[in-house]
Amino acid sequence: MPKTETAVYTHGHHESVLRSHTWRTAANSAGYLLPSILPHMHILDVGCGPGTITADLAALVPEGRVTGLEQAPDVLEQARSVAAARALDNIHFVVGDVNALNFPDGTFDVVHAHQVIQHVGDPVHALRELRRVTKPGGIVAVRDADYEGTIWYPDVEGMNDWAELYLRVARSNGGEPNAGRRLLSWALSAGFDREDIAVSASAWCYSTPQERAWWSDLWAERTIEPSYTRMVVGGGHANEEELAHIARAWREWGAREDAYWSIMHGEILCRVPDPSFQGDLVAESPTTEYSRYLGFVEGDDVGIHDEDE
Ligand SMILES: C[S@@+](CC[C@H](N)C(=O)[O-])C[C@H]1O[C@@H](n2cnc3c(N)ncnc32)[C@H](O)[C@@H]1O
Repeated sequence: MPKTETAVYTHGHHESVLRSHTWRTAANSAGYLLPSILPHMHILDVGCGPGTITADLAALVPEGRVTGLEQAPDVLEQARSVAAARALDNIHFVVGDVNALNFPDGTFDVVHAHQVIQHVGDPVHALRELRRVTKPGGIVAVRDADYEGTIWYPDVEGMNDWAELYLRVARSNGGEPNAGRRLLSWALSAGFDREDIAVSASAWCYSTPQERAWWSDLWAERTIEPSYTRMVVGGGHANEEELAHIARAWREWGAREDAYWSIMHGEILCRVPDPSFQGDLVAESPTTEYSRYLGFVEGDDVGIHDEDE
Protein backbone atom coordinates (compact mmCIF):
# COMPACT_ATOMS: atom_id res chain seq x y z
CA MET A 1 0.00 0.00 0.00
CA PRO A 2 1.43 3.46 -0.90
CA LYS A 3 2.48 5.49 2.10
CA THR A 4 0.61 8.73 2.89
CA GLU A 5 1.55 11.71 5.03
CA THR A 6 1.17 11.15 8.76
CA ALA A 7 2.25 14.60 9.92
CA VAL A 8 -0.02 17.63 10.13
CA TYR A 9 1.36 20.72 8.35
CA THR A 10 1.92 23.13 11.24
CA HIS A 11 1.81 26.50 9.46
CA GLY A 12 -1.29 26.07 7.30
CA HIS A 13 -1.88 28.49 4.41
CA HIS A 14 -3.34 31.53 6.15
CA GLU A 15 -2.63 34.85 4.40
CA SER A 16 -0.13 35.80 7.14
CA VAL A 17 1.83 32.59 6.43
CA LEU A 18 1.79 33.10 2.66
CA ARG A 19 3.03 36.68 3.16
CA SER A 20 6.22 35.03 4.38
CA HIS A 21 6.37 32.26 1.74
CA THR A 22 5.77 34.60 -1.22
CA TRP A 23 8.86 36.64 -0.24
CA ARG A 24 10.98 33.64 -1.24
CA THR A 25 13.01 33.53 -4.40
CA ALA A 26 15.42 31.00 -5.88
CA ALA A 27 18.21 33.45 -5.01
CA ASN A 28 17.34 33.81 -1.31
CA SER A 29 16.19 30.22 -0.75
CA ALA A 30 17.93 27.93 -3.28
CA GLY A 31 21.29 29.60 -3.91
CA TYR A 32 23.14 26.34 -3.16
CA LEU A 33 21.30 24.66 -6.08
CA LEU A 34 21.57 27.39 -8.73
CA PRO A 35 25.05 26.49 -10.11
CA SER A 36 23.71 22.98 -10.88
CA ILE A 37 20.80 24.16 -13.03
CA LEU A 38 21.15 23.94 -16.80
CA PRO A 39 18.66 25.48 -19.26
CA HIS A 40 17.23 22.18 -20.56
CA MET A 41 16.48 20.63 -17.22
CA HIS A 42 13.23 19.07 -16.06
CA ILE A 43 12.70 20.04 -12.42
CA LEU A 44 10.25 18.85 -9.77
CA ASP A 45 9.59 21.28 -6.91
CA VAL A 46 7.99 19.27 -4.10
CA GLY A 47 5.87 21.09 -1.50
CA CYS A 48 6.00 24.18 -3.70
CA GLY A 49 3.44 26.19 -1.67
CA PRO A 50 2.58 29.50 -3.39
CA GLY A 51 5.22 28.81 -6.03
CA THR A 52 7.50 31.86 -6.05
CA ILE A 53 10.65 29.70 -5.90
CA THR A 54 9.08 27.33 -8.45
CA ALA A 55 8.51 30.23 -10.87
CA ASP A 56 12.12 31.37 -10.49
CA LEU A 57 13.30 27.83 -11.27
CA ALA A 58 11.12 27.79 -14.41
CA ALA A 59 12.70 31.07 -15.56
CA LEU A 60 16.11 29.40 -15.20
CA VAL A 61 15.19 26.50 -17.52
CA PRO A 62 13.77 28.24 -20.63
CA GLU A 63 14.37 25.10 -22.70
CA GLY A 64 13.21 22.79 -19.93
CA ARG A 65 10.19 22.64 -17.64
CA VAL A 66 9.16 22.64 -14.02
CA THR A 67 6.48 20.72 -12.16
CA GLY A 68 5.33 22.15 -8.83
CA LEU A 69 3.78 19.56 -6.52
CA GLU A 70 1.83 20.32 -3.38
CA GLN A 71 -0.44 18.43 -1.00
CA ALA A 72 -2.74 21.45 -0.48
CA PRO A 73 -4.86 22.18 -3.59
CA ASP A 74 -5.89 25.71 -2.47
CA VAL A 75 -2.39 27.14 -2.38
CA LEU A 76 -1.80 25.86 -5.92
CA GLU A 77 -4.30 28.46 -7.17
CA GLN A 78 -1.95 31.13 -5.90
CA ALA A 79 1.05 29.31 -7.44
CA ARG A 80 -0.71 29.22 -10.82
CA SER A 81 -1.39 32.98 -10.58
CA VAL A 82 2.27 33.65 -9.78
CA ALA A 83 3.34 31.69 -12.89
CA ALA A 84 0.68 33.38 -15.08
CA ALA A 85 1.69 36.87 -13.89
CA ARG A 86 5.23 36.09 -15.05
CA ALA A 87 4.00 34.62 -18.36
CA LEU A 88 5.84 31.35 -17.72
CA ASP A 89 4.60 28.62 -20.04
CA ASN A 90 7.07 25.89 -18.98
CA ILE A 91 5.55 25.32 -15.54
CA HIS A 92 2.60 23.36 -14.27
CA PHE A 93 1.29 22.35 -10.89
CA VAL A 94 -0.12 19.10 -9.53
CA VAL A 95 -1.58 17.95 -6.24
CA GLY A 96 0.48 15.16 -4.69
CA ASP A 97 2.18 13.75 -1.63
CA VAL A 98 5.95 13.44 -1.31
CA ASN A 99 5.41 9.99 0.22
CA ALA A 100 3.98 8.54 -3.00
CA LEU A 101 5.00 10.62 -6.01
CA ASN A 102 2.91 9.86 -9.04
CA PHE A 103 5.87 9.75 -11.48
CA PRO A 104 7.88 6.88 -12.94
CA ASP A 105 11.41 6.22 -11.69
CA GLY A 106 14.05 8.56 -13.10
CA THR A 107 11.71 11.28 -14.44
CA PHE A 108 13.49 14.51 -13.38
CA ASP A 109 16.97 16.02 -13.69
CA VAL A 110 16.52 17.93 -10.42
CA VAL A 111 14.12 17.27 -7.56
CA HIS A 112 13.91 20.17 -5.14
CA ALA A 113 12.21 20.54 -1.75
CA HIS A 114 12.45 23.74 0.27
CA GLN A 115 11.26 23.71 3.89
CA VAL A 116 9.16 20.61 3.33
CA ILE A 117 11.04 17.69 4.88
CA GLN A 118 10.78 19.28 8.35
CA HIS A 119 7.00 18.83 8.06
CA VAL A 120 6.83 15.15 7.04
CA GLY A 121 6.41 12.18 9.35
CA ASP A 122 9.06 9.99 7.68
CA PRO A 123 11.86 12.13 6.21
CA VAL A 124 13.96 9.11 5.16
CA HIS A 125 11.09 7.63 3.19
CA ALA A 126 10.43 11.05 1.60
CA LEU A 127 14.09 11.32 0.54
CA ARG A 128 13.97 7.80 -0.95
CA GLU A 129 10.94 8.87 -2.95
CA LEU A 130 12.67 12.07 -4.14
CA ARG A 131 15.62 9.92 -5.20
CA ARG A 132 13.44 7.39 -6.99
CA VAL A 133 11.95 9.99 -9.35
CA THR A 134 15.36 11.55 -10.10
CA LYS A 135 17.27 10.44 -13.20
CA PRO A 136 20.62 8.68 -12.80
CA GLY A 137 23.14 11.54 -12.67
CA GLY A 138 20.46 13.96 -11.46
CA ILE A 139 20.25 15.86 -8.19
CA VAL A 140 18.03 15.79 -5.13
CA ALA A 141 18.28 19.25 -3.52
CA VAL A 142 16.83 19.85 -0.08
CA ARG A 143 17.01 22.92 2.17
CA ASP A 144 15.39 23.02 5.55
CA ALA A 145 15.17 25.36 8.48
CA ASP A 146 16.61 24.58 11.88
CA TYR A 147 14.40 26.32 14.42
CA GLU A 148 16.89 26.10 17.28
CA GLY A 149 19.27 27.80 14.90
CA THR A 150 17.06 30.90 15.20
CA ILE A 151 18.62 33.85 16.99
CA TRP A 152 17.24 37.30 17.70
CA TYR A 153 17.99 40.46 19.59
CA PRO A 154 16.88 42.15 21.78
CA ASP A 155 15.73 39.50 24.20
CA VAL A 156 12.12 40.70 24.47
CA GLU A 157 10.08 38.87 27.11
CA GLY A 158 7.77 36.37 25.38
CA MET A 159 9.97 35.61 22.37
CA ASN A 160 11.48 32.54 24.07
CA ASP A 161 7.90 31.35 24.68
CA TRP A 162 7.30 31.64 20.92
CA ALA A 163 10.33 29.47 20.12
CA GLU A 164 9.55 26.83 22.76
CA LEU A 165 5.89 26.66 21.74
CA TYR A 166 6.76 26.29 18.06
CA LEU A 167 9.09 23.35 18.77
CA ARG A 168 6.41 21.61 20.87
CA VAL A 169 3.60 22.14 18.35
CA ALA A 170 5.67 21.10 15.30
CA ARG A 171 6.84 17.91 17.03
CA SER A 172 3.38 17.01 18.27
CA ASN A 173 2.22 17.40 14.64
CA GLY A 174 4.78 14.74 13.65
CA GLY A 175 7.45 17.00 12.12
CA GLU A 176 11.04 17.84 13.12
CA PRO A 177 11.67 21.60 13.41
CA ASN A 178 15.44 21.07 13.74
CA ALA A 179 15.52 19.39 10.32
CA GLY A 180 18.42 21.43 8.92
CA ARG A 181 21.07 19.69 11.03
CA ARG A 182 19.61 16.23 10.26
CA LEU A 183 19.44 16.38 6.45
CA LEU A 184 22.79 14.66 5.92
CA SER A 185 21.93 11.87 8.32
CA TRP A 186 18.53 11.32 6.67
CA ALA A 187 20.10 11.31 3.18
CA LEU A 188 22.59 8.64 4.27
CA SER A 189 19.74 6.56 5.70
CA ALA A 190 17.87 7.01 2.40
CA GLY A 191 20.76 5.30 0.60
CA PHE A 192 22.95 8.12 -0.73
CA ASP A 193 26.70 7.57 -0.36
CA ARG A 194 28.54 10.26 1.57
CA GLU A 195 30.72 11.19 -1.43
CA ASP A 196 27.56 11.89 -3.47
CA ILE A 197 26.29 14.48 -0.96
CA ALA A 198 27.41 18.11 -0.77
CA VAL A 199 26.39 19.77 2.51
CA SER A 200 26.11 23.49 3.13
CA ALA A 201 24.28 26.00 5.29
CA SER A 202 22.84 29.46 4.84
CA ALA A 203 20.70 31.84 6.86
CA TRP A 204 17.98 34.39 6.34
CA CYS A 205 18.49 37.61 8.22
CA TYR A 206 16.00 40.42 8.88
CA SER A 207 16.96 43.75 10.40
CA THR A 208 15.97 46.73 8.23
CA PRO A 209 12.89 48.73 9.33
CA GLN A 210 10.89 47.18 6.46
CA GLU A 211 12.07 43.62 7.20
CA ARG A 212 11.39 43.78 10.91
CA ALA A 213 7.94 45.37 10.38
CA TRP A 214 7.01 42.70 7.81
CA TRP A 215 8.38 39.79 9.85
CA SER A 216 7.03 40.85 13.23
CA ASP A 217 3.58 41.73 11.85
CA LEU A 218 3.16 38.45 10.05
CA TRP A 219 4.32 36.41 13.05
CA ALA A 220 2.10 38.38 15.43
CA GLU A 221 -0.82 37.60 13.10
CA ARG A 222 0.13 33.96 12.54
CA THR A 223 0.34 33.39 16.27
CA ILE A 224 -3.31 34.31 16.87
CA GLU A 225 -4.96 33.38 13.56
CA PRO A 226 -7.89 31.00 14.10
CA SER A 227 -6.51 27.72 12.69
CA TYR A 228 -3.16 28.01 14.55
CA THR A 229 -5.05 28.98 17.74
CA ARG A 230 -7.27 25.89 17.39
CA MET A 231 -4.22 23.68 16.85
CA VAL A 232 -2.34 25.10 19.84
CA VAL A 233 -5.22 25.42 22.29
CA GLY A 234 -6.90 22.18 21.15
CA GLY A 235 -3.59 20.33 21.53
CA GLY A 236 -3.17 21.69 25.08
CA HIS A 237 0.11 23.45 24.20
CA ALA A 238 -0.91 26.97 25.32
CA ASN A 239 -4.04 29.03 25.97
CA GLU A 240 -5.32 32.08 24.09
CA GLU A 241 -3.87 34.48 26.65
CA GLU A 242 -0.42 32.98 26.20
CA LEU A 243 -0.76 33.27 22.42
CA ALA A 244 -1.76 36.93 22.76
CA HIS A 245 1.30 37.49 24.96
CA ILE A 246 3.56 35.97 22.25
CA ALA A 247 1.91 38.11 19.56
CA ARG A 248 2.59 41.24 21.68
CA ALA A 249 6.22 40.11 22.10
CA TRP A 250 6.60 39.94 18.32
CA ARG A 251 5.25 43.47 17.94
CA GLU A 252 7.46 44.77 20.73
CA TRP A 253 10.53 43.15 19.13
CA GLY A 254 9.59 44.55 15.70
CA ALA A 255 9.28 48.08 17.11
CA ARG A 256 12.90 48.09 18.29
CA GLU A 257 15.32 49.89 16.01
CA ASP A 258 18.09 47.44 16.97
CA ALA A 259 15.94 44.35 16.23
CA TYR A 260 17.84 41.50 14.54
CA TRP A 261 16.54 38.05 13.57
CA SER A 262 18.14 35.17 11.67
CA ILE A 263 17.48 31.49 11.06
CA MET A 264 19.96 28.87 9.98
CA HIS A 265 19.13 26.35 7.24
CA GLY A 266 20.83 23.08 6.35
CA GLU A 267 21.22 22.23 2.65
CA ILE A 268 22.07 19.03 0.80
CA LEU A 269 22.75 18.35 -2.87
CA CYS A 270 22.61 14.60 -3.43
CA ARG A 271 23.84 13.27 -6.76
CA VAL A 272 22.09 10.09 -7.91
CA PRO A 273 24.78 7.76 -9.26
CA ASP A 274 24.90 7.16 -13.02
CA PRO A 275 26.58 3.78 -13.57
CA SER A 276 26.86 4.32 -17.35
CA PHE A 277 28.98 7.48 -16.99
CA GLN A 278 32.70 6.86 -16.51
CA GLY A 279 33.88 10.43 -15.78
CA ASP A 280 33.93 12.67 -12.79
CA LEU A 281 30.48 12.95 -11.20
CA VAL A 282 30.54 15.31 -8.24
CA ALA A 283 27.72 16.18 -5.87
CA GLU A 284 27.90 19.92 -6.60
CA SER A 285 27.36 21.53 -10.00
CA PRO A 286 27.74 19.12 -12.93
CA THR A 287 31.17 18.86 -14.50
CA THR A 288 31.41 20.05 -18.11
CA GLU A 289 31.99 16.51 -19.36
CA TYR A 290 28.94 15.25 -17.53
CA SER A 291 26.79 18.14 -18.85
CA ARG A 292 27.94 17.23 -22.33
CA TYR A 293 27.27 13.55 -21.74
CA LEU A 294 23.71 14.50 -20.76
CA GLY A 295 23.40 16.54 -23.95
CA PHE A 296 23.35 19.91 -22.17
CA VAL A 297 26.59 21.20 -23.73
CA GLU A 298 27.35 21.07 -27.41
CA GLY A 299 30.69 21.15 -29.25
CA ASP A 300 33.89 19.17 -29.39
CA ASP A 301 36.08 21.38 -27.28
CA VAL A 302 35.03 20.01 -23.92
CA GLY A 303 35.91 16.68 -22.47
CA ILE A 304 37.88 15.07 -19.72
CA HIS A 305 41.04 17.11 -19.36
CA ASP A 306 44.27 16.27 -17.64
CA GLU A 307 44.71 17.79 -14.18
CA ASP A 308 47.52 20.11 -15.35
CA GLU A 309 45.78 21.45 -18.46
C1 LIG B 1 6.92 25.80 4.58
S1 LIG B 1 5.98 25.49 3.13
C2 LIG B 1 7.22 25.73 1.88
C3 LIG B 1 6.64 26.10 0.54
C4 LIG B 1 7.69 26.37 -0.54
N1 LIG B 1 8.54 25.22 -0.75
C5 LIG B 1 8.50 27.58 -0.17
O1 LIG B 1 9.57 27.43 0.42
O2 LIG B 1 8.01 28.70 -0.39
C6 LIG B 1 5.82 23.71 3.12
C7 LIG B 1 4.86 23.21 2.06
O3 LIG B 1 4.99 21.79 1.97
C8 LIG B 1 3.70 21.24 1.79
N2 LIG B 1 3.73 19.84 2.26
C9 LIG B 1 3.82 19.40 3.53
N3 LIG B 1 3.81 18.04 3.56
C10 LIG B 1 3.74 17.64 2.27
C11 LIG B 1 3.67 16.35 1.64
N4 LIG B 1 3.65 15.23 2.36
N5 LIG B 1 3.60 16.29 0.30
C12 LIG B 1 3.57 17.45 -0.46
N6 LIG B 1 3.61 18.68 0.09
C13 LIG B 1 3.69 18.78 1.43
C14 LIG B 1 2.79 22.15 2.62
O4 LIG B 1 1.43 22.05 2.23
C15 LIG B 1 3.41 23.51 2.37
O5 LIG B 1 2.80 24.19 1.30
